[in-house]
Amino acid sequence: MSNEPSKGRILVLDDEPAVCALLSERLTMEGYDCETCSSGAEALAAMQHGPFDLVISDIRMPGMSGMEFLAQAHQRHPHSAFVMVTAEDDLRVAIQAMKQGAADYLVKPIQLDALLESVERALEVKRMETELENYRHKLEEMVDARTKQLQSAMRRIELTYDETLEALGAALDLRDTETAGHSERVRRYCLEIATAIGCSQDELKQISRGAYLHDIGKIGIPDSILLKDGKLTAEEMAIMQAHVRIGYDLVCRIAFLAPAAAIVLTHQERYDGTGYPQGLMGNEIPIGSRVFAIADTLDAMTSDRPYRRALPISAARAEVEREAGRQFDPEVVRVFLSIPEQTWENIRMEVAGRRVAGRVMPVTVSRSNPTSSRNSKS
Ligand SMILES: [Fe+2]
Repeated sequence: MSNEPSKGRILVLDDEPAVCALLSERLTMEGYDCETCSSGAEALAAMQHGPFDLVISDIRMPGMSGMEFLAQAHQRHPHSAFVMVTAEDDLRVAIQAMKQGAADYLVKPIQLDALLESVERALEVKRMETELENYRHKLEEMVDARTKQLQSAMRRIELTYDETLEALGAALDLRDTETAGHSERVRRYCLEIATAIGCSQDELKQISRGAYLHDIGKIGIPDSILLKDGKLTAEEMAIMQAHVRIGYDLVCRIAFLAPAAAIVLTHQERYDGTGYPQGLMGNEIPIGSRVFAIADTLDAMTSDRPYRRALPISAARAEVEREAGRQFDPEVVRVFLSIPEQTWENIRMEVAGRRVAGRVMPVTVSRSNPTSSRNSKS
């Protein structure tokens, strides 16, 4: 026995013991680790015990034929190579064997040199297949790991986006105490209605951001107008109304906010075309803004104003119903009215709780003129 490592494990399957002995002896001499079996059933059992790199199988055998054996063995052991041997040089049998997964086909009487060549070739092909498979597997693992890294980076970026939004909204609220918590409540109301309408996850994300930033353009409105007591002049009103355009110009430049910018621009449009800045009508107004219009009215009516106490939610619902087809999209109104009043109450309390708990930036700082009566529906 040589001390050389085995060149591979080979199983010889033939019902003639003499053939088994001949092949086994030669293959062992060549450095292969060889076993023999005289029937398909015996060979399947042997393969069950330990994997073989290659099986040389006779085709014509009593009981299970070589082709039947090949079909079963190849299915159970796809990593083994098969070389088929038969007494007749029948091309159809050869083609069938190859189709069933055999690597090669030899005709009896077996030329031992040809057999060895065939065995080496078959093992080489198997080795390359295995290497390729391992490589593909590693590649898949690598892609998987990279995808996970990318997803986690995207989640972090997304989180940063939302933190940036909160800071922007808080900056706005600092200038406009009358609306303290307004942006967050309107955002939550919008999400509730838009979800009930059946908006996609992506639409919900844009609506959420657009609603939160709807009045961001007020940053560009002078204090003398934004905080003015009493009625605005026509000229002042025109300046105030410019907040939608200022907000749009601001937001659309930020790539991740660009899709939400449409809501900032159109949040003062009315379903009947009497809104501003473009006087859009019906479905010309983005769905996010048609949802926003209702959410904004709900929050304005149910919040305290210097000139009146907060009204009950039922009053806001009645107003929204009355304005269906005029200020509001009737279909969105229908969905809004189907949502229980308690939902809005819960959101109000949650947002108030969040603000007290300090999870939102401290936007409730007191101002020198807390009773200013501004044009709340700007
Ligand atoms: Fe506005």
